[in-house]
Amino acid sequence: MVAINLIDYPRWPSLARESILNVPADIRNVRVNIDGRVIDYSGEVDSVVITGMGGSGVVGDIASDLCWFWDCKVPIIVSKNMRLPRRLSKPLVIAISYSGNTAETIMSANEALSRGYPIIGVTTGGKLSTVLSNKGVPVVLVPKASAPRYGLPSLLYPTLIILERFGIASVANELESGISGMERALKAIDEAERLAGELLNAIPIIWVSESRRGVGIRFKNDLNENAKYFAIVSIIPEGAHNDIAAVTTKQVGLRHIAIMGPNDYEGRYLETLLDVVSSFVAKPLVVKLEGSTPLESEMYGVTFLGITTLVLAHLLNVEPISTLPIDRLKEELDKRKLFPV
Ligand code: F6R
Repeated sequence: MVAINLIDYPRWPSLARESILNVPADIRNVRVNIDGRVIDYSGEVDSVVITGMGGSGVVGDIASDLCWFWDCKVPIIVSKNMRLPRRLSKPLVIAISYSGNTAETIMSANEALSRGYPIIGVTTGGKLSTVLSNKGVPVVLVPKASAPRYGLPSLLYPTLIILERFGIASVANELESGISGMERALKAIDEAERLAGELLNAIPIIWVSESRRGVGIRFKNDLNENAKYFAIVSIIPEGAHNDIAAVTTKQVGLRHIAIMGPNDYEGRYLETLLDVVSSFVAKPLVVKLEGSTPLESEMYGVTFLGITTLVLAHLLNVEPISTLPIDRLKEELDKRKLFPV
């Protein structure tokens, strides 16, 4: 097979390491005065809202996965909207936008400020950085990549450090293992080629457990954006109560693929579901997430599956980086002045 262009993936370990250097050491000492109201970053928080879209928003899904394994002290609320969830009590808001120009995320950030919540931006720059920095709000500026989704470690690693600084999760001991997961996946190109070959001419149905939701969503998004390929994710146990009913139709062109982590709480459940699926249609493909820590297996998964989608793009002769319809939608939203940002 011809060499696959791995775009920024070979840089992922160094992106992860570089990006955490930019989290301000004194973030808990910040006090911001917004129109006479003081937002104090040293206070206790009782939830963390991670807001962002697409390749930035998936950081929230990944953090939420990790909290199924880690002893996270407060719930992580993943918000992919232009509004924040209502009736939050004492949240910390992390607004993530690779470009810093995503209207939904800027609107959510503004809402956090107007509601007096401590907020931290994670971005390469753009309007988000300007809006927040002008008000004295901390912004973690992260290294650039060829497109938002290829900068995942630059967005995820600072977020994990922020969780650590706020006493929500103890992550420091696991960061290197996450990098080992990325490195391991970078060596599994032959396997990625085999998997991509299996997905050709099919609609992938990705089965994943709640505690690996982030890996499943990221895989689907990478199939969509890198290979311009349609796919769906079914998250169990819920998907076992509806999506599974459709396997009896023997529709042509569906390819079932399950993602399983080494210590997933729902592992036996997923195995049972796969046996049932196999009794109706072809046996699902299984991707086993390798790693000795939750972060390692998670990072192995997103890296390995991301590379698989680059191989698929190559097999389909599709240019992986550009995502013209997303750009066009952003332009149209701008033109129609849907968002006051
Ligand atoms: C493109 C990509 C998209 C963007 C999304 C939000 O590579 O991954 O899903 O991430 O359109 O844009 P940002 O990340 O700049 O806020």
